[in-house]
Amino acid sequence: MSVTTVSPAEHHVDGNVHVLPQTNHLRALHTIIRDRTARREDLVFHSRRIMRLLIETGLDLLPYEKAEVETPVGSTYDGLRLTSKICGVSIIRAGDSMETELRTIIPSVRIGKILIQRDKVTKLPQLYYSHLPADIAERHVLLLDPMLATGGTALAAIQLLLDKGVREEHIVFINLLTVPEGIAVLHDRFPNVKLVTSAVDRQLNENAYMIPGIGDFGDRFFGTD
Ligand code: URA
Repeated sequence: MSVTTVSPAEHHVDGNVHVLPQTNHLRALHTIIRDRTARREDLVFHSRRIMRLLIETGLDLLPYEKAEVETPVGSTYDGLRLTSKICGVSIIRAGDSMETELRTIIPSVRIGKILIQRDKVTKLPQLYYSHLPADIAERHVLLLDPMLATGGTALAAIQLLLDKGVREEHIVFINLLTVPEGIAVLHDRFPNVKLVTSAVDRQLNENAYMIPGIGDFGDRFFGTD
């Protein structure tokens, strides 16, 4: 009997940067959501499909232990079980777009919130609000923000998590789109944070939008453009 094992396309890993396999299918999803004429319902539906892939990939980066179960035919399956407590932390507002997908995969997941905005005068990221699980220091954190551009907000959010006792290597940043500048800023300061993304674009333009990009994702997703 011949057995063919088909391995799923490996995602590309460079240090702590995990890029989803650039399959034709993923590129087709990006083609829909990046189109400036996309209807909002199509953008929401198809970006959520990518978010689901990103979160499933992020969950694979968490620690597991061996777990055997007996199958209905009396045999043993040598499986695995997640060992760590986790929580999602959404960077308001764009991060909230990813929350539904995380809740669909793990309905009981705890969700923290962080609101950081750039001060109009100093241009520095300013923390306006945060509400996080009391035991967050014991958890692995899936940090949710679909856009990693200049990295200012991400750095401030991660610093807040570290100040709350979360270990840097326990943070998995779930991100839909980034650029090399964003990755460099993130990993210069926090090299142990794992980044999971679905695309690395060319560059930032003079207005800090990613190119070729997706426009203002929060506005397009929530219909405020
Ligand atoms: N935020 C967005 O929504 N889009 C970009 O291109 C950059 C930051």
